[in-house]
Amino acid sequence: MVDEEAGVVLRARIAAAQRICVLTGAGMSAESGIPTFRDALTGLWSRFDPAQLASEEGYRADPQRVWDWYAERREGVRAAEPNAGHLALGAFARQRPGVLSIVTQNVDDLHQRAGNADAIRLHGDILADRWLERCPERGTGREACATGGAEPGRPPRCTRCGNLVRPGVVWFGEMLPPGAMEAAERAAAACDVMLVVGTSGAVWPAAGLAGAARRAGAFVAIVNPHPSDIDGEAHAVLRGTAAGVLPRILGVGVEGG
Ligand code: APR
Repeated sequence: MVDEEAGVVLRARIAAAQRICVLTGAGMSAESGIPTFRDALTGLWSRFDPAQLASEEGYRADPQRVWDWYAERREGVRAAEPNAGHLALGAFARQRPGVLSIVTQNVDDLHQRAGNADAIRLHGDILADRWLERCPERGTGREACATGGAEPGRPPRCTRCGNLVRPGVVWFGEMLPPGAMEAAERAAAACDVMLVVGTSGAVWPAAGLAGAARRAGAFVAIVNPHPSDIDGEAHAVLRGTAAGVLPRILGVGVEGG
């Protein structure tokens, strides 16, 4: 289906839908200035080694290097603003309460700042901290790792047991946050329309949600300027960007939110 035809069909499907699930990836935030992972040249994994910077082994091998890399990424997220795509999704949620479920692979807070506070975070939150080790004192009634009083440093560590603070994101090989994937699967199975925006479809289980929605009877559309690994799951592919396409197909003026 070519873009303009796809756009007309998709807009009608969205207008008629009772439930819409939107799966977003790093491309959703690209127009906010946050780099993607796999775009040639600009993607983070074309410049950095994910094994060293996005794995527990990499963190244990060189905590300061990983902590500093995330600190730099955090600065970028804090300096970024939601783009017209985020704002259109926020406006849609306000104008049609209860219809939209957002499932994001992104660890930034731009969906939340645009008004989609209930976006399901599959890969965690880059602005959140958590302890590297499960504190042995937790649940014993004795004081657990000194959460508020972590010793400042790069990275901060517990002043009593030396436990290290780490970013609250899901690293390669780690489990997703409890309940997140189950909630995402429920949203994918129940929706009339699934919009897949800005993901290469390279990482599972998130990439499986488009096929799950299609098998459950949803109309699946992809918004991406480039081909992705899951284009075959889509009824319609719109070769465009999140900020360019979403305001147009959601039928909401960004200022109309
Ligand atoms: N609008 C829409 N899509 C875009 C835009 C844009 N402005 N710019 C780039 N894209 C597309 C690219 O074509 C690519 O298909 O966004 C996609 C980004 O793909 P990835 O960089 O692989 O990011 P993502 O799919 O979110 O990666 C999934 O991999 O490394 C892990 O945990 C990380 O959550 C991430 C996961």
